[in-house]
Amino acid sequence: MSDSNTFIAPPELRYIQYHSSKESTYLSAIRQLISKDLSEPYSIYVYRYFLYQWGDLCFMALDEKDSLIGVVISKLEPHRGGPMRGYIAMLAVREEYRGKGVATKLVRMAVDVMVERDADEIALETEVTNTAAMKLYERLGFLRSKRLHRYYLNGNSAFRFMLFVKESTAQCGDEDENPQLPPRPPSA
Ligand SMILES: CC(C)(COP(=O)(O)OP(=O)(O)OC[C@H]1O[C@@H](n2cnc3c(N)ncnc32)[C@H](O)[C@@H]1OP(=O)(O)O)[C@@H](O)C(=O)NCCC(=O)NCCS
Repeated sequence: MSDSNTFIAPPELRYIQYHSSKESTYLSAIRQLISKDLSEPYSIYVYRYFLYQWGDLCFMALDEKDSLIGVVISKLEPHRGGPMRGYIAMLAVREEYRGKGVATKLVRMAVDVMVERDADEIALETEVTNTAAMKLYERLGFLRSKRLHRYYLNGNSAFRFMLFVKESTAQCGDEDENPQLPPRPPSA
Protein backbone atom coordinates (compact mmCIF):
# COMPACT_ATOMS: atom_id res chain seq x y z
CA MET A 1 0.00 0.00 0.00
CA SER A 2 1.19 3.49 -0.79
CA ASP A 3 2.13 5.88 1.96
CA SER A 4 -0.32 8.43 3.33
CA ASN A 5 0.78 11.31 1.13
CA THR A 6 0.70 9.46 -2.15
CA PHE A 7 -2.64 7.74 -1.63
CA ILE A 8 -4.60 7.88 -4.86
CA ALA A 9 -8.28 7.01 -4.78
CA PRO A 10 -9.67 5.24 -7.88
CA PRO A 11 -10.03 8.00 -10.50
CA GLU A 12 -13.31 6.64 -11.85
CA LEU A 13 -15.09 7.49 -8.60
CA ARG A 14 -16.91 10.73 -7.91
CA TYR A 15 -17.09 12.14 -4.39
CA ILE A 16 -20.18 14.15 -3.55
CA GLN A 17 -21.75 15.81 -0.55
CA TYR A 18 -25.13 14.47 0.54
CA HIS A 19 -28.18 16.72 0.26
CA SER A 20 -31.81 16.09 1.23
CA SER A 21 -32.73 16.11 -2.46
CA LYS A 22 -30.68 12.89 -2.76
CA GLU A 23 -32.58 10.98 -0.06
CA SER A 24 -34.85 8.99 -2.39
CA THR A 25 -31.89 8.01 -4.58
CA TYR A 26 -29.32 7.12 -1.93
CA LEU A 27 -30.76 6.57 1.55
CA SER A 28 -31.61 2.92 1.04
CA ALA A 29 -28.20 2.23 -0.56
CA ILE A 30 -26.50 4.01 2.37
CA ARG A 31 -28.39 1.86 4.87
CA GLN A 32 -27.57 -1.32 2.98
CA LEU A 33 -23.89 -0.53 2.71
CA ILE A 34 -23.56 0.37 6.37
CA SER A 35 -25.72 -2.39 7.83
CA LYS A 36 -23.78 -5.02 5.89
CA ASP A 37 -20.59 -4.45 7.89
CA LEU A 38 -21.30 -2.54 11.08
CA SER A 39 -22.35 -4.47 14.15
CA GLU A 40 -24.85 -1.88 15.40
CA PRO A 41 -28.37 -2.34 13.97
CA TYR A 42 -29.21 1.30 13.25
CA SER A 43 -32.85 2.13 12.58
CA ILE A 44 -34.02 4.55 9.89
CA TYR A 45 -34.42 7.16 12.67
CA VAL A 46 -30.70 7.12 13.35
CA TYR A 47 -29.88 7.78 9.70
CA ARG A 48 -32.45 10.59 9.54
CA TYR A 49 -31.16 12.08 12.78
CA PHE A 50 -27.77 12.59 11.16
CA LEU A 51 -28.79 13.34 7.59
CA TYR A 52 -31.56 15.84 8.38
CA GLN A 53 -29.34 17.92 10.63
CA TRP A 54 -25.86 17.40 9.21
CA GLY A 55 -26.38 16.25 5.61
CA ASP A 56 -23.48 18.49 4.62
CA LEU A 57 -21.18 16.33 6.78
CA CYS A 58 -22.09 13.21 4.83
CA PHE A 59 -20.01 12.36 1.76
CA MET A 60 -20.52 9.60 -0.78
CA ALA A 61 -18.26 7.93 -3.33
CA LEU A 62 -20.11 6.91 -6.50
CA ASP A 63 -18.97 4.84 -9.46
CA GLU A 64 -19.50 5.77 -13.10
CA LYS A 65 -23.06 4.39 -12.91
CA ASP A 66 -23.75 6.47 -9.79
CA SER A 67 -23.87 3.37 -7.58
CA LEU A 68 -22.82 3.93 -3.98
CA ILE A 69 -19.27 2.70 -3.27
CA GLY A 70 -18.58 4.38 0.05
CA VAL A 71 -20.12 6.72 2.59
CA VAL A 72 -19.22 8.67 5.72
CA ILE A 73 -21.88 10.10 8.05
CA SER A 74 -20.98 12.61 10.74
CA LYS A 75 -22.19 15.46 12.87
CA LEU A 76 -20.90 18.59 14.59
CA GLU A 77 -22.22 20.23 17.75
CA PRO A 78 -21.04 21.61 21.08
CA HIS A 79 -20.01 18.80 23.42
CA ARG A 80 -21.58 19.20 26.86
CA GLY A 81 -21.64 22.95 26.46
CA GLY A 82 -17.89 23.00 25.80
CA PRO A 83 -15.81 22.41 22.68
CA MET A 84 -17.30 22.16 19.22
CA ARG A 85 -17.03 18.41 18.62
CA GLY A 86 -17.27 16.68 15.28
CA TYR A 87 -18.24 13.03 15.39
CA ILE A 88 -17.75 10.43 12.69
CA ALA A 89 -20.72 8.14 13.20
CA MET A 90 -20.58 5.69 10.30
CA LEU A 91 -18.09 4.81 7.60
CA ALA A 92 -18.20 2.00 5.06
CA VAL A 93 -16.73 1.15 1.67
CA ARG A 94 -17.89 -1.64 -0.62
CA GLU A 95 -15.65 -4.64 -0.19
CA GLU A 96 -14.23 -4.76 -3.71
CA TYR A 97 -13.10 -1.11 -3.48
CA ARG A 98 -11.30 -1.36 -0.14
CA GLY A 99 -7.61 -0.64 0.34
CA LYS A 100 -7.58 2.01 -2.40
CA GLY A 101 -7.93 5.12 -0.26
CA VAL A 102 -11.69 5.62 -0.70
CA ALA A 103 -12.45 5.83 3.04
CA THR A 104 -9.43 8.05 3.59
CA LYS A 105 -10.74 10.49 1.02
CA LEU A 106 -14.28 10.46 2.47
CA VAL A 107 -13.05 11.02 6.03
CA ARG A 108 -10.75 13.83 4.89
CA MET A 109 -13.69 15.55 3.15
CA ALA A 110 -15.82 15.35 6.30
CA VAL A 111 -12.94 16.52 8.52
CA ASP A 112 -12.21 19.46 6.19
CA VAL A 113 -15.80 20.72 6.44
CA MET A 114 -15.79 20.30 10.23
CA VAL A 115 -12.56 22.29 10.48
CA GLU A 116 -13.99 24.99 8.19
CA ARG A 117 -16.98 25.09 10.53
CA ASP A 118 -14.72 25.68 13.53
CA ALA A 119 -14.53 22.21 15.07
CA ASP A 120 -12.27 22.05 18.13
CA GLU A 121 -12.00 18.28 18.08
CA ILE A 122 -13.33 15.25 16.23
CA ALA A 123 -14.26 11.96 17.89
CA LEU A 124 -15.23 8.46 16.80
CA GLU A 125 -15.27 4.91 18.07
CA THR A 126 -14.22 1.73 16.35
CA GLU A 127 -14.17 -1.92 17.39
CA VAL A 128 -10.85 -2.92 18.95
CA THR A 129 -10.46 -5.60 16.27
CA ASN A 130 -11.00 -3.27 13.29
CA THR A 131 -7.41 -2.98 12.11
CA ALA A 132 -8.22 -1.30 8.79
CA ALA A 133 -10.26 1.47 10.45
CA MET A 134 -7.65 2.03 13.19
CA LYS A 135 -4.84 2.28 10.63
CA LEU A 136 -6.80 4.73 8.57
CA TYR A 137 -7.66 7.03 11.48
CA GLU A 138 -4.16 6.93 12.96
CA ARG A 139 -2.73 7.82 9.57
CA LEU A 140 -5.04 10.85 9.50
CA GLY A 141 -3.71 12.01 12.88
CA PHE A 142 -6.39 10.66 15.22
CA LEU A 143 -5.13 9.53 18.63
CA ARG A 144 -6.42 6.52 20.53
CA SER A 145 -7.88 8.15 23.64
CA LYS A 146 -9.47 5.31 25.57
CA ARG A 147 -10.76 1.76 25.53
CA LEU A 148 -14.51 1.36 26.10
CA HIS A 149 -15.28 -2.05 27.56
CA ARG A 150 -18.22 -3.91 25.91
CA TYR A 151 -19.28 -0.71 24.16
CA TYR A 152 -21.27 -2.25 21.34
CA LEU A 153 -24.56 -4.12 21.54
CA ASN A 154 -22.77 -7.29 20.38
CA GLY A 155 -20.56 -7.11 23.49
CA ASN A 156 -17.41 -6.02 21.65
CA SER A 157 -15.19 -3.31 23.05
CA ALA A 158 -14.23 -0.11 21.27
CA PHE A 159 -11.41 2.39 21.12
CA ARG A 160 -12.34 6.04 21.11
CA PHE A 161 -10.20 8.08 18.75
CA MET A 162 -9.80 11.85 18.95
CA LEU A 163 -8.42 14.38 16.53
CA PHE A 164 -7.60 17.60 18.36
CA VAL A 165 -7.92 20.39 15.84
CA LYS A 166 -7.07 23.10 18.33
CA GLU A 167 -4.46 22.49 21.00
CA SER A 168 -6.51 24.04 23.80
CA THR A 169 -9.14 21.25 23.65
CA ALA A 170 -6.70 18.38 24.20
CA GLN A 171 -7.37 18.33 27.97
CA CYS A 172 -11.13 17.77 27.77
CA GLY A 173 -12.62 14.80 29.56
CA ASP A 174 -14.49 11.93 27.97
CA GLU A 175 -17.38 9.72 28.89
CA ASP A 176 -18.00 6.01 28.60
CA GLU A 177 -21.55 5.94 27.34
CA ASN A 178 -22.35 6.90 23.78
CA PRO A 179 -23.95 10.36 23.84
CA GLN A 180 -23.30 10.82 20.14
CA LEU A 181 -26.27 8.81 18.94
CA PRO A 182 -29.91 9.78 19.40
CA PRO A 183 -31.98 7.71 21.84
CA ARG A 184 -33.36 4.61 20.15
CA PRO A 185 -37.10 4.83 19.48
CA PRO A 186 -39.05 2.20 21.48
CA SER A 187 -39.62 -0.07 18.48
CA ALA A 188 -36.01 0.03 17.21
C1 LIG B 1 -12.73 0.49 7.40
C2 LIG B 1 -13.03 0.76 5.93
C3 LIG B 1 -14.09 1.86 5.84
C4 LIG B 1 -11.74 1.21 5.22
O1 LIG B 1 -12.07 1.55 3.88
P1 LIG B 1 -10.93 1.62 2.74
O2 LIG B 1 -11.47 2.41 1.61
O3 LIG B 1 -10.43 0.27 2.47
O4 LIG B 1 -9.83 2.47 3.52
P2 LIG B 1 -8.47 3.06 2.94
O5 LIG B 1 -8.12 2.33 1.70
O6 LIG B 1 -8.64 4.53 2.84
O7 LIG B 1 -7.45 2.74 4.12
C5 LIG B 1 -7.47 1.49 4.74
C6 LIG B 1 -6.20 1.26 5.49
O8 LIG B 1 -6.33 0.04 6.21
C7 LIG B 1 -5.37 -0.91 5.73
N1 LIG B 1 -6.03 -2.19 5.76
C8 LIG B 1 -7.05 -2.62 5.03
N2 LIG B 1 -7.41 -3.87 5.38
C9 LIG B 1 -6.57 -4.22 6.40
C10 LIG B 1 -6.41 -5.36 7.20
N3 LIG B 1 -7.21 -6.42 7.05
N4 LIG B 1 -5.44 -5.37 8.12
C11 LIG B 1 -4.64 -4.29 8.30
N5 LIG B 1 -4.74 -3.17 7.57
C12 LIG B 1 -5.69 -3.13 6.63
C13 LIG B 1 -5.01 -0.43 4.37
O9 LIG B 1 -3.77 -0.96 3.99
C14 LIG B 1 -5.01 1.07 4.58
O10 LIG B 1 -3.90 1.51 5.34
P3 LIG B 1 -2.51 2.00 4.68
O11 LIG B 1 -2.85 2.92 3.59
O12 LIG B 1 -1.81 2.67 5.80
O13 LIG B 1 -1.84 0.77 4.22
C15 LIG B 1 -13.54 -0.53 5.21
O14 LIG B 1 -12.65 -1.59 5.49
C16 LIG B 1 -14.96 -0.94 5.60
O15 LIG B 1 -15.93 -0.49 5.00
N6 LIG B 1 -15.06 -1.79 6.62
C17 LIG B 1 -16.36 -2.21 7.13
C18 LIG B 1 -17.07 -1.09 7.89
C19 LIG B 1 -16.19 -0.52 8.97
O16 LIG B 1 -15.48 -1.23 9.65
N7 LIG B 1 -16.24 0.83 9.13
C20 LIG B 1 -15.44 1.55 10.09
C21 LIG B 1 -16.18 1.74 11.34
S1 LIG B 1 -15.30 2.83 12.42
